[in-house]
Amino acid sequence: MDISGKKAIVFGGTSGIGLATTKRLAALGASVIAVSRNPDKAGDVPAGVTLKQCDVLDRDALFADCAPFDILVSAATGGGRAIGPFLKMDMDGYQASFAKLWGYTNVVRFGTEHLAKDGAIVLVSGTPARRMGPGQIAISSVGGAVEAFARGVAAEIAPRRINVLAPGSIDTPMVSMEGEARKAFYEKATARNVIPRAGTADECALGIIFLIQNDFVTGTTVDVDGGRLVA
Ligand SMILES: NC(=O)c1ccc[n+]([C@@H]2O[C@H](COP(=O)([O-])OP(=O)(O)OC[C@H]3O[C@@H](n4cnc5c(N)ncnc54)[C@H](OP(=O)(O)O)[C@@H]3O)[C@@H](O)[C@H]2O)c1
Repeated sequence: MDISGKKAIVFGGTSGIGLATTKRLAALGASVIAVSRNPDKAGDVPAGVTLKQCDVLDRDALFADCAPFDILVSAATGGGRAIGPFLKMDMDGYQASFAKLWGYTNVVRFGTEHLAKDGAIVLVSGTPARRMGPGQIAISSVGGAVEAFARGVAAEIAPRRINVLAPGSIDTPMVSMEGEARKAFYEKATARNVIPRAGTADECALGIIFLIQNDFVTGTTVDVDGGRLVA
């Protein structure tokens, strides 16, 4: 797909990986609607980007005033994430972690009908889907479901395409720690990776752009993880 002149909607497009994708799409000549619950957090956005307030769990409001489009990305975390061993897991927290999946499935269920026939969808899972660290059973379960969902629905939505970007440990506002604690967190999280540093939101955005541009790719997952899976 030639992104220039296309219309894109990016859920979670106001922070981190979604915001970097919004900026990349705009730089390639797309008009972009960046959506989140509190879109002002995006700060100054480039020309061609408009901000929209919406919760991905609010099915009725998702596509009001913004269809049709050519590109649909969701990087919205959806809500909180439960951390810890499964046998000590608060099951309400575990189930709430699936808000990310419900947000993604909402936008595909109600967005595909507004997507151009040659359009592309990209969702975002995470390395724990296939290689989890201690305490990551909830995000591993959710990420695995996201990847299985995209593989499973790809044939049904053809000729439209759907793919998943799986980030490793990426330095974004999703982690609220600051200063030395933040630095130590990412150093510890990535020390054993083949590329021992946190990735950037823009490195993930480049993977998302590849999945949008390449018309021969559907139903698959691309890892941007500093070699975490093979370390
Ligand atoms: N950063 C990492 O290391 C990492 C690793 C693996 C996977 N991931 C995945 O990558 C994706 C993007 O993460 P990120 O690091 O870029 O996080 P982020 O900087 O916290 O951005 C998340 C975005 O999602 C929006 N959002 C969250 N819940 C929403 C909802 N219910 N409705 C609408 N928008 C919502 C947020 O805005 P509002 O709060 O304003 O709604 C924000 O724009 C997520 O799926 C995350 O699980 C990240």
